Amino acid sequence: MSLAELEARPVLTSNADPVIEMDEVHKEFVLGGAFLNQTFLRALSGVSLKLTRGRALALVGESGSGKSTCARMLARAYEPSAGSIRFHGDDIATFKGQRLQRYRSEVQMVFQDPFGSLNPTQSIGYHLERPIRLHRPELKGKAIEAEMLALLESVGLRPAADYLKRRPHELSGGQRQRVAIARALSVRPQVLLADEPTSMLDVSVRLGILNLLEDLKQQRQLAALYITHDIATARYFAEETAVMYAGHVVEQGPSQEITDNPRHPYTQLLIEAVPNPNRKIAVVPGRRATDIPLWTRSSRGCPFVSRCPRATSVCKETMPKPVSVGPGHTARCHHVAS
Ligand SMILES: Nc1ncnc2c1ncn2[C@@H]1O[C@H](COP(=O)(O)OP(=O)(O)O)[C@@H](O)[C@H]1O
Ligand SMILES: [Mg+2]
Repeated sequence: MSLAELEARPVLTSNADPVIEMDEVHKEFVLGGAFLNQTFLRALSGVSLKLTRGRALALVGESGSGKSTCARMLARAYEPSAGSIRFHGDDIATFKGQRLQRYRSEVQMVFQDPFGSLNPTQSIGYHLERPIRLHRPELKGKAIEAEMLALLESVGLRPAADYLKRRPHELSGGQRQRVAIARALSVRPQVLLADEPTSMLDVSVRLGILNLLEDLKQQRQLAALYITHDIATARYFAEETAVMYAGHVVEQGPSQEITDNPRHPYTQLLIEAVPNPNRKIAVVPGRRATDIPLWTRSSRGCPFVSRCPRATSVCKETMPKPVSVGPGHTARCHHVAS
C-alpha cells in the first residue's frame, strides 16, 4: 500500500468493546533521596487508553513522555501505582499462575532494536520454536516446522526455509524486525505493542515494516499500540492517536483529526515540527529534552506551561480534565477554545 492509499482509508471512531483498557493509570518511580526525602517521579499521571480489535492506537510524544512505560504496564512488566488495566474486563493485577502465563502470550511486544531482542548465537528457527513449544503444546513435530515456515512467509521472509537456519547477524535490520514480529505472532496474541518499531531502521525500509504491521493487524484482527515520536507516521498506521507530554495524555482522537486539526498547543508544535517539503524552509521549533519538566509528586498545573504560548495563571495551578473538541476528540487545555 502506498502512503496515499493508506491515508485515504476511512477513519471511524470505534465503539467496539476494548480488548485492553488503561483506566486512570498512575505510575511513580522513586528518583532517589534519603528515606523521608525521596523524590517520586510521576512517569504516568491518570492515563486512560483503549485498544480494540483490528485497530491501532498511536502513542506519540517526545522522549521521556511515558510511552514505553505505558507499553510495559500493558505487558504487566510494571504494576500501576494507582488505577487499573483491564483485559476483556478483568483486572490484569489479579492474573496469577496459568492465567498470567496465558496473558503473557495474549499480549506481545515488538521493540525498537530487533538485534537487541534476538540472541546472536541462535538461529531464526530457534527464536520461533521456543515460544511455540511453550505456549502452543497442541503443535508437535512437523506441525511446528510448518507453523514456523508459515510465520516467516506471513512476515514477507521468502523462501522461508532459507531463513530458518540463518542467524540474526546474517539478516538486514528490516529482516530482523520481521523476525521479531514473526516471533511475537507465533503465540497468536490478541494485542501487539510496537515500541518505536521502525526508529532504528533505515528510512527506506520503514514503510515496508509499517505496511506489514498494517496487513497483520487486519488479517489477525490485532488490537495494536503503535509507539512513535514521529506524529507524521501515526496517521498511516493508526486509526486513533494519543499525544503524551510529561506522563499526561494531552490530546486524543481520530488520527486524521489530530493531524489536520490539532487542538492542544503541544500537538500543534509537534505538527509544525514535521518537515514539510512544500515549505521552503522546514520550521523546526527549538526542542530540547530538558524543556520537558520532571513531573514529581509536588508538581502541579499543566506540565506544558513553560513552553506554552497560551499559558495563563490558571495553567500554573490546575490541569484541566479532557475537553471534547469533536467526535471522539478530546484535549486537555484551559484555552482550547481560543
Ligand atoms: N524503571 C524506571 N525507573 C525509574 N524511572 C523510570 C523507569 N522507567 C522509566 N522511567 C522514567 O519515566 C519517564 C518516562 O519514561 P519512558 O516511558 O521510557 O518514556 P518514553 O518511552 O516516552 O521515552 C522518564 O523520565 C524515565 O526516565
Ligand atoms: Mg520509549
